[in-house]
Amino acid sequence: MTATATKPIAPVDLAAERAELGPALEEAVLRVLRSGTYILGPEVEKLERDFAAYCNVPHGIAVATGTDALILGLLAVGVKCGDSVVTSPFTFFASASCIAWIGATPRLADVDPDTALLDPKKAEAAIDAKTTCILPVHLYGQLADMRALRALADKRGLKILEDGAQCHGAKRDGVSCGELGEAGTYSFYPTKNLGACGEGGLIVTKNADIAARAKRLRDHGSPAKYTHTELGTNSRLQAFQGAVLNVKFPRLEGWNVRRRQIAARYDKNLAGAKGVTPLKLAANSVHVYHQYTVRIRGSRSRDEVLKKLAERQMFCGVHYPTPVHLQPVAKSWGYGPGDFPVAEALSREVLCLPVHPFLTDAEVDRVSEALLELTSA
Ligand SMILES: Cc1ncc(COP(=O)(O)O)c(C=O)c1O
Repeated sequence: MTATATKPIAPVDLAAERAELGPALEEAVLRVLRSGTYILGPEVEKLERDFAAYCNVPHGIAVATGTDALILGLLAVGVKCGDSVVTSPFTFFASASCIAWIGATPRLADVDPDTALLDPKKAEAAIDAKTTCILPVHLYGQLADMRALRALADKRGLKILEDGAQCHGAKRDGVSCGELGEAGTYSFYPTKNLGACGEGGLIVTKNADIAARAKRLRDHGSPAKYTHTELGTNSRLQAFQGAVLNVKFPRLEGWNVRRRQIAARYDKNLAGAKGVTPLKLAANSVHVYHQYTVRIRGSRSRDEVLKKLAERQMFCGVHYPTPVHLQPVAKSWGYGPGDFPVAEALSREVLCLPVHPFLTDAEVDRVSEALLELTSA
């Protein structure tokens, strides 16, 4: 057995990322340490400017986490306690919990079985008299159908906040997250396509009033020192994280290109397989493959395949094993088993294969071969 054949294959490789960046990351951290500016400041302002420009919008507001970006984003676009907000039941829990956290009600609508993205028709059916906003999640690295959702929101007089935690650099119909919605949010959790060395998040918007409100909200509702005009919180991005992200940001496009090459290789390797169905690329999409996700529907269950791959040192992810509406804390939202059959089936069947940009073609082939063998029985 060769050394390559025994090397574990992990879902992420942050050590390889650090090695590629060389000493630049350490220099940036040291620069902040010596500057004495630890919260917001020039590094964070540069990130806000550059990331907003990358998303083709004029305003970027950096906050402490992707979760805070959602909470403050909802408040900034005007969602209030007592409203309801339509979102997906198949996402990381924060997409829906942020709605409940501000005292609004999550109204869930099932996803498309081919892409796992919010289905605009089902979103329309989920709108109730209290709905003021739609919160589509750009899951796994591709955008939900924003043109359809924008048309729906305009027809029904609703706002849109886009959850772009997994879609740095993705486009659909030529637009990025935050361009068609009133605002979009990003997470810089370390394993994201663009990740900090710690927590981080960002709100992007075209709207100057929403931007100004988000800035106040991240700073205790304060437009000027010791003046508080509304209730906010402390959610200011640390300068260390701004500096780290400024070093990594120029690499993002290249890393996303490599993710697409890996995805294309998996597509080719797995084409025609019986028990493995890759999720589909939506029309007119630039996917950034935060995850490369397949559905396992052969004689072996997804969990069995996951375990057997791990025994061979190939570690995959399951995003997410429980849909939002079946989480214990979500009981009071009024949903139960069977309410969102697509989300429930996906939770049982999805397997996220390693797709980080430092994976070699040989590793992609090893995972593909093992998967084909385990699912062909
Ligand atoms: C879809 C989605 N929304 C929101 C979040 C929350 O981001 P954070 O972990 O930065 O708070 C995540 C992070 O995993 C996510 O994947």
